[in-house]
Amino acid sequence: MLFTRFAAVLAAAGMVHAQRPSNVSICDYYTTALLQNNTAENQYKLLTLLVNTAVIGNYTTPNVGVAVPGILTPGTFNGTAVKLAPYFTGALASTNSGGTSGQSVNFLDGGGAAPLQKNMPAEDNTSNQYFLLTHLYSFFGALLKCSGYSQPSFPSYAGSASMYDVHKFMALDAAEVGYFIAQVALAGASFGVAESDLMAVGAALSGLFAQRCSPPTEVVPPQGSALQAICIQSDCPLADGAMCGLYDTVVEPANATATAGGTTSSSATATTTGGVTGTGTGTGTGGSSTGTAAATPTSTAGAASVGWSLMAIAGGFVALMI
Ligand code: HEM
Ligand SMILES: *[C@@H]1O[C@H](CO)[C@@H](O)[C@H](O)[C@H]1NC(C)=O
Ligand SMILES: *[C@@H]1O[C@H](CO)[C@@H](O)[C@H](O)[C@H]1NC(C)=O
Ligand SMILES: *[C@@H]1O[C@H](CO)[C@@H](O)[C@H](O)[C@H]1NC(C)=O
Ligand SMILES: *[C@@H]1O[C@H](CO)[C@@H](O)[C@H](O)[C@H]1NC(C)=O
Ligand SMILES: *[C@@H]1O[C@H](CO)[C@@H](O)[C@H](O)[C@H]1NC(C)=O
Ligand SMILES: *[C@@H]1O[C@H](CO)[C@@H](O)[C@H](O)[C@H]1NC(C)=O
Repeated sequence: MLFTRFAAVLAAAGMVHAQRPSNVSICDYYTTALLQNNTAENQYKLLTLLVNTAVIGNYTTPNVGVAVPGILTPGTFNGTAVKLAPYFTGALASTNSGGTSGQSVNFLDGGGAAPLQKNMPAEDNTSNQYFLLTHLYSFFGALLKCSGYSQPSFPSYAGSASMYDVHKFMALDAAEVGYFIAQVALAGASFGVAESDLMAVGAALSGLFAQRCSPPTEVVPPQGSALQAICIQSDCPLADGAMCGLYDTVVEPANATATAGGTTSSSATATTTGGVTGTGTGTGTGGSSTGTAAATPTSTAGAASVGWSLMAIAGGFVALMI
């Protein structure tokens, strides 16, 4: 169904790489290119594909030949090893539930990767996973300016207005945030999103969330201004107009106790090596773990030729901000 059409459209090619008119948003343009009818429902579907792919790695067959390791898969960014899964499994006490330190929360409690591979957020609609994934669809839909955003089939973002608040007890550094942004960019690349559009998205994400001490700003109207820095360690570039006094001292997350965080903790670390490497070689070796993050099997090549430019995207071209 969806994927057959997807494949057919990609096979027809050309179209996806054509220049996007400046009066059509990235969301609307690629919805039309990949799913034909530019409806709110199809826009939400596009965001589901994009976010699910960024999280678990490429799972649609075929794509344009770009491998996406995925946020849950360990990898390297700019020569630094990165492992983000423990923030999602409850292995780290890194969730801000109020208070002065983080709590252990399992965000893969809605079936893990399996429902994502079926283009769903979770196998239920009450889990932490369900809320996290649907919030991400809506949040990125707002950022990419989907024209159907906030229509009945494209729910408005209902999460926190402050990305700093959400992520503060994760104590994220430049490589971790860079890796995350690179996975989003790679997911777009795997669907044939043009490099100029990837650059624009990467620059926006980098400018909004990867600059230490950035001043309050509004990301999703009409939520209002709030602190947005996700990258808060000392190796994160200092924002223009930095207001470090508004940010709390960085608190490192503790390891959760063995029983905390649910049953996915121990198995969620896939053995796959990510494709975003400092050398730009981008080879991934296949993982075959049985954990919730095991959705990224063999991924070779693909990322190779785009390794450096994606790093540049994640490194930030703030001047190109959309
Ligand atoms: C540009 C970078 C990033 C963006 C735009 C982003 C965006 C978001 C959004 C919109 C949410 C949902 C918030 C809500 O429901 O209120 C979220 C939650 C979360 N993010 Fe990020 N994120 C980024 C980087 C990262 C990184 C590097 C990690 C590291 C593992 C991470 C881990 C998480 C986790 C664990 C949650 C769930 C937290 C909770 O609901 O309390 N994020 N993120
Ligand atoms: C964008 O501009 C073109 C040419 O100026 C016009 O034909 C088209 O209708 C516009 N599209 C939208 C969505 O406004
Ligand atoms: C697009 O919408 C039209 C009219 O609603 C419908 O007839 C057509 O089947 C749709 N095409 C696709 C590919 O969804
Ligand atoms: C991911 O993409 C790569 C490159 O196109 C491909 O070789 C691999 O089979 C894909 N993985 C899945 C699970 O679709
Ligand atoms: C949640 O799932 C239940 C059972 O599958 C269903 O009856 C309900 O309508 C769903 N609610 C939402 C908001 O999707
Ligand atoms: C958490 O555990 C890992 C290995 O399981 C260890 O390398 C790390 O130092 C621990 N961190 C803390 C804060 O205890
Ligand atoms: C990569 O690391 C070097 C130093 O280790 C740093 O100067 C550079 O800014 C980093 N690049 C990115 C894109 O994070």
